[in-house]
Amino acid sequence: MPPTRPPSIISETSIAGRVEELGRRISSDYSGVDELLLVGVLRGAFIFLADLSRKLTIPRRVDFIALSAYGGTDTAPGPVRLLMDLRTNIAGRHVLVVEDIVDTGRTLRYLLDTLGARGPASLKTCVLVRKPARAEVEVPVDYLGFEIPDEWVAGYGLDYADQFRTLPYIGVVKREQEVK
Ligand code: PRP
Repeated sequence: MPPTRPPSIISETSIAGRVEELGRRISSDYSGVDELLLVGVLRGAFIFLADLSRKLTIPRRVDFIALSAYGGTDTAPGPVRLLMDLRTNIAGRHVLVVEDIVDTGRTLRYLLDTLGARGPASLKTCVLVRKPARAEVEVPVDYLGFEIPDEWVAGYGLDYADQFRTLPYIGVVKREQEVK
């Protein structure tokens, strides 16, 4: 039987409005640069990146990187590992990392350290949702969609056990929907 759709906490309309607003701000802030490189973090950021990139009015290109927490459990993840690197040499480029969620902050910290060492002209972050209650590592979020409570969320790219990524909204996964 297919799982029940999780109840919405951020609607499709709210997401669309916020993505448009972020697109305007980013376009304005980067209006003086030749080109912005958007780095999407797979897999969760693919929908946010697709929508955000099409709201920008400045020259931009897109690349992807894939990271994952290695081993561990849902509540105590292991170290971050690089699964797939960028194709682009980012030295001298303006880079904006696009993430779906900052939870503990460990993934974004790893990414900022790794990409920062490659000599970009600038390196900033755009995150759709952040859970302040779960923060373990301090990470700068330059553009933020929404702050959310410490709940399991899924939809709009975010998964719960690889389900619900293609929901058009962000919902809360309740205990009875969790996949064992
Ligand atoms: C998720 C999410 C972020 C990371 C955030 O990725 O996409 O990259 O966790 O968690 P953190 O702040 O605690 O590091 P995940 O490893 O689940 O892979 P996915 O994007 O493929 O779902």
